[in-house]
Amino acid sequence: MKRIIIAIDGPAASGKSTTAKRVAAALGYLHIDTGAMYRAMALKVLRAKIEPRDKKKVAALADSTTVRLVNRNGQVHVVLDGMEVSDEIRLPEVTNMVSPVSTVPEVRTLMVKEQRAMGTDGGIVLEGRDIGTIVFPNADLKIFMRADARERAVRRKKELEGKGVAVSLDVLEQEILDRDRIDSERSVSPLRKADDAVEVDTTHLSIEQQVEFIVARANAIIGNGSV
Ligand code: DC
Repeated sequence: MKRIIIAIDGPAASGKSTTAKRVAAALGYLHIDTGAMYRAMALKVLRAKIEPRDKKKVAALADSTTVRLVNRNGQVHVVLDGMEVSDEIRLPEVTNMVSPVSTVPEVRTLMVKEQRAMGTDGGIVLEGRDIGTIVFPNADLKIFMRADARERAVRRKKELEGKGVAVSLDVLEQEILDRDRIDSERSVSPLRKADDAVEVDTTHLSIEQQVEFIVARANAIIGNGSV
């Protein structure tokens, strides 16, 4: 059976990760969270105490960096220069500096090369900002997820509360809007919907509805049923 490439793009906290993970599980595909790779680079910048907006220094650091996503028994681990960093990359300090770090062209070149290598055989769901536009412009199925900023802040708050972290809703909404702005306005591969992507507004959708919608589309392409 044909094993396709599915690209899921969208702004921060639009529900991409949970949805992409479940779509991949439903199809028996590999799930690649490309944001995790940019987060790993941001963690390295943080540890090196480099100013994230100093593009030259960040680029030089990227030159001597390897970021790999390693699949162990169906769990994807983020490995930075040979060391597991899956938990640290979710720290709020990393979240707050990942957008400027990911505007650096050398950082993007490094990540895109790795992402393309992982996707060559298909059977993969990649989520990020530039998958349908830059990484795999010929992806078989492209989804662009949106949701209101307030709703995204509510979701992020719940997720953080689950980890015992209390943050105000207004602060979270502002952080999300700031990341949207940097991700959409950067000159290299900005966040934008590919012309042939299917737009899914998740503001009023449940995770189950989003997953069902995407899996049905995928199955129609694979030849496994109809939309
Ligand atoms: O999906 P996320 O919120 O974990 O992504 C973290 C950051 O990484 C995001 O603010 C922008 C950057 N990113 C990117 O530039 N390109 C991607 N394909 C994925 C993420």
